[in-house]
Amino acid sequence: MSARLAFLGLGTMGAGMAGRLADAGFDLTVWNRRRGPAEGLVARGVRSAVSPAAAAAQADVVISMVSDDQASRSVWLGTDGALRGVRDGAVLIESSTVSPGWIRELAAAAAPAGCGVLDAPVTGSRTHAANGELLFLAGGDAALLDRVRPVLAPMSRGIVHVGPLGSGAMLKLVNNFICGVQAAALAEGLAMIERSGLDRDRSLEVLLQGAPGSPLVKTVAARMLARDYTVHFRAALMGKDLRYAIAEARELGVPLETAQAALRSFDRAVGAGRGEADMSVIVEPLRAALTAG
Ligand SMILES: NC(=O)c1ccc[n+]([C@@H]2O[C@H](COP(=O)([O-])OP(=O)(O)OC[C@H]3O[C@@H](n4cnc5c(N)ncnc54)[C@H](OP(=O)(O)O)[C@@H]3O)[C@@H](O)[C@H]2O)c1
Repeated sequence: MSARLAFLGLGTMGAGMAGRLADAGFDLTVWNRRRGPAEGLVARGVRSAVSPAAAAAQADVVISMVSDDQASRSVWLGTDGALRGVRDGAVLIESSTVSPGWIRELAAAAAPAGCGVLDAPVTGSRTHAANGELLFLAGGDAALLDRVRPVLAPMSRGIVHVGPLGSGAMLKLVNNFICGVQAAALAEGLAMIERSGLDRDRSLEVLLQGAPGSPLVKTVAARMLARDYTVHFRAALMGKDLRYAIAEARELGVPLETAQAALRSFDRAVGAGRGEADMSVIVEPLRAALTAG
């Protein structure tokens, strides 16, 4: 597919994803709110646009990867938003983790321009984005998704068609609230181990080799042990995902009590000024409480 692409949002994930599209040889225009993140790609011959509208102007496919509903609304519907410049019939892909309701609103706003929308959030983190190993959870028309599979392929290890529009967003929120709960439980377990005087390394080895040792728990445990909070996934973004999941579940009549508890852990870290650090930082307020106690 020789599609012309626009990519909006060059954060932790977007920079790696756009890099993969450039590597694959696509005709690519990028945009980021701050100027700096585009520089590396521009040095490799990628075009950088002054606004989402300008980036979208020549594109057959427009992909957005920004932080949340508000950021997504701004890049698509803002004064210089992509919908102001988009060509008739372009395919719009929202890969950010956002609310299913916002995805449906975006699709309604894009329909008059004849643009189809897909929600295609991803699992995987910074290194998976940089290495083209993300898993796309796509919602929307299956034939439309088939048209853009060649665009998603260089960024991914797989593309799952979850169901109608908004389904990818919904599954992603379920996926992430479970991850957030696991990380919060691990932080509390590690704090118990450290306070109780158990041999920390031996105890963690038992947990990680046993039933609690999910891929998420293993990854996060290594960062908590090393106290290395280099960002893979910002703590504030996990708080956002937990909030969106709780709101969606409320609509469905499902009380997300574990997510509520996990959200308190993430809010505590954000309140302590650690929201920009990796999500594994949520153990630190508990360690500080130990020290204080
Ligand atoms: N990191 C992960 O492991 C991971 C994994 C799966 C899914 N996700 C999801 O993927 C999305 C991106 O995550 P990330 O880790 O790449 O986030 P990030 O590093 O915080 O980057 C956020 C991006 O959004 C842009 N942005 C924020 N507010 C904006 C606004 N009002 N208008 C325009 N642009 C705005 C930022 O632009 P500036 O550079 O100008 O601030 C930046 O490009 C999020 O929805 C996240 O939940 C993340």
